[in-house]
Order: sequence, then C-alpha cells, then structure tokens
Amino acid sequence: MQQPYRVLMVCLGNICRSPTAEGVFRHVVVEAGLGERIHVDSAGTHDYHVGKPPDTRSSHHASLRGYDLSSLRARQVSGADFGRFDLILAMDRQNLALLEQQCPEVSRHKLRRLMEFAPAELGDVVPDPYFGGQEGFELVLDHIEAACAGLLTHVQSELLRTQERSI
Ligand code: 4NP
Repeated sequence: MQQPYRVLMVCLGNICRSPTAEGVFRHVVVEAGLGERIHVDSAGTHDYHVGKPPDTRSSHHASLRGYDLSSLRARQVSGADFGRFDLILAMDRQNLALLEQQCPEVSRHKLRRLMEFAPAELGDVVPDPYFGGQEGFELVLDHIEAACAGLLTHVQSELLRTQERSI
C-alpha cells in the first residue's frame, strides 16, 4: 500500500486561514474519493494560539459553505514537519519567508504558496482576515476554494507519478 501524500497548510496563527484551508481541502479530497490517499493538516508559524480551536468567525463562515472546522486545534510548525510532509503551503509571503528560514535545504522544494494553484487573477496570497470585518472571512474562503480545486489536480498527478515509479 502506497504511503498517503501529505499536505500541510501554514499561516501565522493557525486559527483563521490554514485551518480553513485544511477543512476545505479535506472536504474536496473526500469528495474525490481520495481520503485514504491524501492526508491534510495545518499549523502556524507562531505559537500565539496553540491548542485553541479556529477563530469563531472562520468556523462560522466555513460552516455556511458546508465545511466543519470544529475538531481542529492550533499547533505551531515543528522541525519534523519538513520531513514528514510532501507539500507545505504558505498562505502568504511572510509565512513562506519564515518557513524558508526554518526548512532544511533538502526539503526546500516542498515549500510553495497555496495561491500558486489558483487562477492568477486572485493574486498571490490569502489575505489575513484577523483584524478586519466579516467580509474578509468570505474572501479567505473564495481564495481557498479556488486554490483547492487546482491543488487537487496537482496532487492527483503527483500520486500518479509516484505510483508509476513504484511499478
Ligand atoms: P491566521 O490569522 O494566520 O490566518 O490564523 C491570524 C491569527 C492571529 C493573529 C494574526 C493572524 N494574531 O496576530 O494573533
């Protein structure tokens, strides 16, 4: 049995954007029948909110679109994550820069931005909604949903590639 492909979503606090990305991508993966093949997790570059559930605004707006974030708890990125995950996706450039500082050279190729998988017109980053209004949380979902569709296609092709290599 092939190892699952592991994707880690990363933002600053792991209470708004990255748990939303975890919940949305897991939903997409399960809908595609790939729940056993693709593992999804999330973490923050900072430890401010470790152990806390997602921000209630994130959970509320996610639930309006059918995503359940209730079981998620914030954690900080650890050194072991760079070895364990196949793809580590930052929500913005600051998070990516922090990951690049911590990541061993051998795992650098795993670091990308989630928005690389979305249509270019949506921009490069998932905007931080923490200090803004409700509309920011809807915008986060719009960005993440668009990126997760492209991300699924990418991961499916990676799974096929590794499958072919192991035959
Ligand atoms: P997140 O949002 O990185 O999307 O989870 C934030 C959460 C907390 C803070 C900033 C952004 N904060 O400054 O505490």
